[in-house]
Amino acid sequence: MNRNLILSFETSCDETSIAVIEDGHTILSNIVATQIRSHQRFGGVVPEVASRHHIQQITSCIEEALNEAKVGYDDLSAVAVTYGPGLVGALLIGVTAAKTVAWAHNLPLVPVNHIAGHIYAANLEKTIEFPAMALVVSGGHTELVYMPAENQFEIIGETRDDAAGEAYDKIGRVLGINYPAGKQVDEMAHLGHDTFNFPRAMDKEDNFDFSFSGLKSAFINTVHHADQIGESLDKNDLATSFQQAVVDVLADKTIRAINSFPVKQLIVAGGVAANHGLRERLTQELKNMPTELRLAPLPLCGDNAAMIGSAGEMLFRHHVLSDEGLNAEPGLEFDYIEKS
Ligand code: KG4
Ligand code: ZN
Repeated sequence: MNRNLILSFETSCDETSIAVIEDGHTILSNIVATQIRSHQRFGGVVPEVASRHHIQQITSCIEEALNEAKVGYDDLSAVAVTYGPGLVGALLIGVTAAKTVAWAHNLPLVPVNHIAGHIYAANLEKTIEFPAMALVVSGGHTELVYMPAENQFEIIGETRDDAAGEAYDKIGRVLGINYPAGKQVDEMAHLGHDTFNFPRAMDKEDNFDFSFSGLKSAFINTVHHADQIGESLDKNDLATSFQQAVVDVLADKTIRAINSFPVKQLIVAGGVAANHGLRERLTQELKNMPTELRLAPLPLCGDNAAMIGSAGEMLFRHHVLSDEGLNAEPGLEFDYIEKS
């Protein structure tokens, strides 16, 4: 009997990742080669450095993923790849490698949107039930996505400026923390108190958009002002106050969204979904609500190819396919309702 095996590729930013997923749910392998240490000394991801690392690592990652899954090219049903959004040079490496494998082994090629991938990290734990809402929070994205049915996505709210993870990384730099700062700020936030009362951007209008630049500026101004007058501030209190403001806004808008749409599940995904403050707050808020909370498994919050394989399997079932003309789309939009 033919197995339903997807070989998936993720190279949109600073992780080279290849996975083999069976039936859309089972991870047979998920190789993630991170480049974070190469980018740390620059304080953020350097696109050219990222592309070079992807080129150097991708072939061995493919071999490792197939070996660990104990499968060969002939066992595969399809190849899935992130083609946007992301860094163009980084995306191109994954897209080119995936197209080559698909062409050489005569396999269908499934184009996957990176955000859909993040959402489908939850599907690797348990099948997503629709209608569903997803809060996608990462270094590049902060989005509320309404999914009335499988393969139907509608962005109902997004950030107007910085992404949540980006704000963490920027204020982390002011605290002297290496990129990416989110995890460490999260740890510090559990040791301090919310003493600074930073602004929360909750506009009166009934929309689901986010904004973190005012909070980021307030944070940076507070630290600079203290520096100028020679006052020392408690870094843990700063981290707690920042995190409290971020979590208040994310939780408030998300709860408002799930109260406005008839959803069975709330999925929380992306690098910032690993945030303990956010996980605890949403767990608390949804305790007495009918909506089921689906926090992405911690190891699958950051970029990885397993989530791309799971989304790829869903798209494959819906016959979403590409040919060798597939190109990287760095600014790929993510707002489509496709009739199944
Ligand atoms: O999803 P991801 O790996 O890459 C993108 O697609 O952007 O997200 C990375 C982001 C970084 O900004 C990082 O600082 C943030 O996720 N992050 C966190 C935590 N762990 C990672 N932010 C807050 N709390 C965390 N525990
Ligand atoms: Zn991502």
